[in-house]
Amino acid sequence: MKALILAGGLGTRLRPLTLTRPKHLLPIANRPHIDHVFEWLHRHDVDEVVLLTSYLAERFTEAVARASTKGLRVEVTHERQPLGTAGALKNAESYVGGDTFLAFNGDVLSDIDLGAAIDWHRSREAEATIVLTPVADPSAYGVVSTDSEDQVLGFIEKPPREEAPTNLVNAGVYVLEPSVLSRIPRGEVASAERQLFPQLVKDGARLFGCATSAYWMDIGTPDKYLQANLDALAGRFSTTAVRTPGEAVVLSDEGATIDPLARVSSSCLGAGSVVQRHAVVDGCVLLPRAVVGEGARLSRVTLGEGASASPGVTASDMAVADGDSIES
Ligand code: GDD
Ligand code: MG
Repeated sequence: MKALILAGGLGTRLRPLTLTRPKHLLPIANRPHIDHVFEWLHRHDVDEVVLLTSYLAERFTEAVARASTKGLRVEVTHERQPLGTAGALKNAESYVGGDTFLAFNGDVLSDIDLGAAIDWHRSREAEATIVLTPVADPSAYGVVSTDSEDQVLGFIEKPPREEAPTNLVNAGVYVLEPSVLSRIPRGEVASAERQLFPQLVKDGARLFGCATSAYWMDIGTPDKYLQANLDALAGRFSTTAVRTPGEAVVLSDEGATIDPLARVSSSCLGAGSVVQRHAVVDGCVLLPRAVVGEGARLSRVTLGEGASASPGVTASDMAVADGDSIES
């Protein structure tokens, strides 16, 4: 089975962390997010992946090499200008053979059973299947309504909250037949959510929605990104990166140090990061070499690579750019 992974977005909502890297390389439980995606696919017998890149594409090189050593074949496409979610899939058409394939939003952290989704798609003889997940506020997502046989009746991208017909949304996980790609114009910017799926509905194509209750998170906002880390630490998202999950677990990468007089809970400490004495750190993500100064108090803060919190400073719910500093 082949999988196309959309990984060319600018990650604007995660700035400043994404000024220097694609969001797909931000760590979840001290591992680049994309590594979790590769692991998920590999676990479900996907052996060939096409990574659809654009923004800061060269930053993916190491992750691609790591995946290859684990037996996953990874090809990379590069859009000079982002082609949109449908345009990017079309651009990878030559990698897709005559068989059913998977496509993903590459910023999703999930353990959806892909084999079950493929079986479900085949049992419906669908041309396209969109995996659906329930959310509290559907207005930030693609809202998908279905009939009693699960055929999609409507796909509305990010409707006003009061106009969302259901709380089941597009999980950004698709099972597709190659014929779907021939519906997308070549070499043009095109959106899967605003053009392709609504067009499939209009055409009466066999487009189905398959609901799941598996763990699912789009890491695309600072809040959701932190939450994904906390979910991994607590075991709500299960990963080999966290061996003994629990609510207050602290995951320290190589060379991270915590002063014995500091208090750290529910946090991920990247390689070489430092928490100095009397600091209090809760629900935070420290990227490699970040420093929390003496007596600083941080709650739900992401410190970029080499970023710091000055001694004595108090901060919450913020993200700090690589090398930057929170001053009092
Ligand atoms: N290659 C490529 N080219 N990738 C792209 C492009 C592009 O032009 N534009 C976006 N992507 C990638 C992003 O990097 C991300 O992995 C994925 O496509 C989705 O883009 P987002 O920008 O994260 O979209 P969203 O979160 O606002 O909404 C999407 O995801 C929701 C689920 O998380 C939509 O698909 C919604 O319908 C969906 O509910
Ligand atoms: Mg997203």
